[in-house]
Amino acid sequence: MGGYILAIDQGTTSTRAMVFDSQMRVAGRAQREFPQHFPASGWVEHDPEDIWHSVVETVRLALADAGLGAKDIAAIGITNQRETTLVWDRQTGAPLHRAIVWQDRRSAPICEALKRDGLEPVFTERTGLLLDPYFSGTKITWLLDHVDGLKARAERGEICFGTVDSFLIFRLTGGRRHVTDATNAARTLLYDIGRNGWDAELAGLLGVPLAMLPEVLDCAADFGVTDPALFGAEIPILGVAGDQQAAVIGNACFEPGMMKSTYGTGCFALLNTGTDRVASTSRLLTTIAYRLDGVTTYALEGSIFIAGAAVQWLRDEMGFIKVASQVSALAEQADPEQRVYLVPAFTGLGAPWWDAEARGAIFGLTRGTGPAEFARAALESVAFQTLDLLDAMQQDWQGHDGRTVLRVDGGMVASDWTMQRLADILAAPVDRPLFLETTILGAAWLAGARAGLWPDAKGFAERWHRDRRFAPGMDAPEREAAIAGWRDSVRRCLSA
Ligand code: G3P
Repeated sequence: MGGYILAIDQGTTSTRAMVFDSQMRVAGRAQREFPQHFPASGWVEHDPEDIWHSVVETVRLALADAGLGAKDIAAIGITNQRETTLVWDRQTGAPLHRAIVWQDRRSAPICEALKRDGLEPVFTERTGLLLDPYFSGTKITWLLDHVDGLKARAERGEICFGTVDSFLIFRLTGGRRHVTDATNAARTLLYDIGRNGWDAELAGLLGVPLAMLPEVLDCAADFGVTDPALFGAEIPILGVAGDQQAAVIGNACFEPGMMKSTYGTGCFALLNTGTDRVASTSRLLTTIAYRLDGVTTYALEGSIFIAGAAVQWLRDEMGFIKVASQVSALAEQADPEQRVYLVPAFTGLGAPWWDAEARGAIFGLTRGTGPAEFARAALESVAFQTLDLLDAMQQDWQGHDGRTVLRVDGGMVASDWTMQRLADILAAPVDRPLFLETTILGAAWLAGARAGLWPDAKGFAERWHRDRRFAPGMDAPEREAAIAGWRDSVRRCLSA
């Protein structure tokens, strides 16, 4: 057995694989994008075979990049886009529909019907989630209602449901294991996060046969071994976590009160609340941060749908920049006298608003407003939205001082200007890690620690290093005026 760890990050737009050596240094890497399908307004699908091929290919390329073979790899860790829903044939492993992606809104009417029946409180109490099409549960209901014969076959135990991790493990193990981990299970609307088990009553309400659900394991556990035909030798799969939870781990947020925020297409902030399962009164999610050795650590989560996507919009639709990295230089040129606000509610607003009907708007335009003010407003919208999440977290978890340190990761954190603005708006320090690939590192740590090759959580946390701390520097009146303008702009965008 070799001493290397291989981690796979199966994300929404691309799949990445990385090989780490025994010192947790990157020895090889690969990345592949794959097609997105938008068959109707608000629908987003992936072809499961595209996902699968991208995984096999990136693993092989990362091994080749490291100059290693499967025998050198001690264990695999997997992290994945969460909530995305797949169904496949238990015998053949053949997908029975395209994957319905987390962004897909098609099951909104199912959520509305359940809400009308007064059922949201029971789902929230047990799963920590809200009745929103974002989560897997109502996507499964939609599939069972729309794919011919699926329901009867699911009842007979012939069909498997899984999030992306579960589908990949099924395929990687040659169909021998139908399993998932607690963090992915926690995103389905079917999993009781207090009792740690599938909830038969909720499954009944959603019309989901229990026979199609995977076995749920800890995040560091024995998920099976890869079919030797795939990479040349068996490799044990020892770690699994949803991508936002993997970033909590990779950013070493192991203590209650530690918080991470990942800025990719959207933004997901998770606050570790320890073994306390904190119920939100501000429409945040309560979720499982990780489950290790049977002990569940919980988190409060705020999900924002548009962060980096606002920069893509400036690039692709407005044509203000050619490449995303130009955005901060443009924002720096903005006229400090103008207060322009962009509310990027392009697909509605996520936490804490959860307003699917809200749409984006820009406020404060003058004759002098140009691309630079748009760029600044787009970047600031990310900071303001993070502030809304932190305020909600502080309200929900009274014992906690929400103005402690935030650890950040994701593509946008490369911009010093954006990180400084974030610290200014939050009035809190923002820590950027030296190793920015925290999500995939988190998956690698789960596998490496389980294999006994990497340090435990404490030792891993000691090896987390900061690249830079951004200290807040905006004076209070300026900050308060900016926040008041943002709040007013959001209010004007809400649908009701
Ligand atoms: O909840 C959705 C989230 O897991 C997606 O993450 O990084 O693939 O966009 P990402």
